[in-house]
Amino acid sequence: MRLLCGVCFALTLSSPVLAAAQAPAAAQALPSTVAGIPVNYDESKTGTYTLPDPLKLNDGKPVRDAKTWTTKRRPEIVEIFETQQYGRAPGRPADESFDIFDKGTPALSGKAIRKQVMIYLTKDHSGPKINLLVYLPAAAKKPVPMLLSINFGAVSNAADDPGIRPSEIWDPKTNTRVPAPKGKGFGRVDVEPLLAAGFGFATFYYGDVDPDYASGFSNGIRARYLKPGQTAPAPDEWGAVSAWAWGMSRVEDYFETDKGIDAKRVAIHGVSRLGKTVMWAGAHDQRFAAVIASCSGEGGAALSHRDYGETVAHLVAPGRFPYQFAADYQKYGGFPDTAPMDANLLVALIAPRPLLLQTGDTDFWSDPKGEFLSAVAAGPVYKLLGKDPLDTDVWPAAGQPILHDLAYSMHSGGHGMVPTDLDVYIQFLTMHLHPER
Ligand code: GCU
Repeated sequence: MRLLCGVCFALTLSSPVLAAAQAPAAAQALPSTVAGIPVNYDESKTGTYTLPDPLKLNDGKPVRDAKTWTTKRRPEIVEIFETQQYGRAPGRPADESFDIFDKGTPALSGKAIRKQVMIYLTKDHSGPKINLLVYLPAAAKKPVPMLLSINFGAVSNAADDPGIRPSEIWDPKTNTRVPAPKGKGFGRVDVEPLLAAGFGFATFYYGDVDPDYASGFSNGIRARYLKPGQTAPAPDEWGAVSAWAWGMSRVEDYFETDKGIDAKRVAIHGVSRLGKTVMWAGAHDQRFAAVIASCSGEGGAALSHRDYGETVAHLVAPGRFPYQFAADYQKYGGFPDTAPMDANLLVALIAPRPLLLQTGDTDFWSDPKGEFLSAVAAGPVYKLLGKDPLDTDVWPAAGQPILHDLAYSMHSGGHGMVPTDLDVYIQFLTMHLHPER
């Protein structure tokens, strides 16, 4: 794998299937079990299931209009995901503060104005803090729309720019912060094409909010919110995905204060577990104007009722990723039929805002077809709100994106992004966020 950062080292160790999904389809030997749990890759064995209906209230009454959706059904579904999957997070911290330590420096050969901001999340500045890197198009005369991408690696690797303050990442082996090794990280987005299209770009290292390994808990933001007597969040309180999503909302808090940024036109992006993160961030925080979730898979946009690739049981198996979710989510491992939610409801929570699900045709572990079916099943909510869903239930081939308000794009290849994905992103973002050029 071409993964260089500390967390990606952890990914390599813990994700044999992630590695397998990067090889060409024909050459792959897909593991038949992961964590001792069988994995199905046979389309004829995905099972039969009934998905939860986004347009039926908990009391069984139908949702027939936008008002009932917005005031009743949407809050019901948010609460289900909050308590049963990702875990409740606190609100905006009273002690949040912003230190703009780089106030606007010409960068990237004059194409950008760079800003760097430390977002303090706690009163005690030695606590978790987000080191935010921002580029705005140098030519911009008005507040710009943004792509905010949550990053697996250090921001010092996010662009080839010597002016970025050197930064550190967590080392899971020593549970300490170490200088970030050089190199393009997994899921890195090229800044310059976005700037040329009239967008600003911002990014931060997800570990600034919470380390991505169970034993890192005490160093993350969640540990700062434990109530007296608690040693871990309650079963319906936040896992790491919820904490990372909360961190994205804290960045939006900053955007609302920056006159160069149009905080009402902010799209969010993340890959893999960070694809799950942006699904939840966008579903929960309606200030975000659009979402691009790359290969979010199980626990993200892929259907859990469909037994294909990773399942909830694999996700929450001991030693894998239970810490990323509310403890309550574990009860659905092996029993997706008992869950009140599935990913179609998560997709629906992003409506009426634009959502692009980007997948890869050999990323079997993430179930690209399961993401498509989830979007199909959320279509009626987009329609009810006057927006354009996928308008088909025929799974498109790789390289044939459907770019409506609800959008789906599958590249030819494995887990993560390939270079052509950014072209699709820019097309999608331009359609919906209308940059001035
Ligand atoms: C593992 C995990 C996935 C996750 C991925 C990633 O493969 O099983 O659910 O999306 O890691 O974050 O890269």
